[in-house]
Amino acid sequence: MNVLAISNQKGGVGKTTTAISLAAALAEKGSRILLVDLDPQANATSGLGVSKHQPRSVYGVLVRDEPIAEAILPTSVPGLDIVPSSPDMAGAEVELVPLLAREFRLREALPKAGEYDTVLIDCPPSLGLLTVNALVAADPALLPVHGEDHPPDGPALPPAADARVPLPPPPGRPSRLVQGGFGSPFGEGRADRRRRTPPDNV
Ligand SMILES: Nc1ncnc2c1ncn2[C@@H]1O[C@H](COP(=O)(O)OP(=O)(O)O)[C@@H](O)[C@H]1O
Ligand SMILES: [Mg+2]
Repeated sequence: MNVLAISNQKGGVGKTTTAISLAAALAEKGSRILLVDLDPQANATSGLGVSKHQPRSVYGVLVRDEPIAEAILPTSVPGLDIVPSSPDMAGAEVELVPLLAREFRLREALPKAGEYDTVLIDCPPSLGLLTVNALVAADPALLPVHGEDHPPDGPALPPAADARVPLPPPPGRPSRLVQGGFGSPFGEGRADRRRRTPPDNV
């Protein structure tokens, strides 16, 4: 089972869009895919047509030790299942703090999810414990970025996470980062702006 975290501390860079699109594409190719929605905004959940008001969600798995298998729901895409997020997740960052092995909750839960080829984790736009849980559980992390001035700061995330989790990657799971990006939604990227801005104003 491959586990891929899609992460960047900046919002609006395409994490959720990448997670949904990649998950659906891999499922269409015949893989069994599980998408874990770790973002309290639950955009991956609603984006796949699943209500974020479920009796079981990723919140219960992380905070209440509920079995992950019971939180898994099918989506309309054959082969693609989801562990939905929920409004409770807004408090999870704080509620995780006093819990035992707070950085390892997701990593310990995933092997009990069932038979999946790939697990994709859609992260919240933050450097908190939810993102740390995703990075600890994942093999590689995929970091979508905008071709803009500020978003390149976002990939500072892994060292920050490493500082909180001073442990080597699990055996057979070397830390790997993959960065991908798309242009500014405003029609102009960093390179375009540099070309038209005097250098001492950059
Ligand atoms: N490859 C892309 N090209 C252009 N726009 C994109 C791309 N991926 C995402 N977007 C748009 O960017 C916005 C933010 O995407 P989203 O996936 O919600 O970001 P995040 O999860 O990082 O907050 C959305 O309006 C989405 O439609
Ligand atoms: Mg998102």
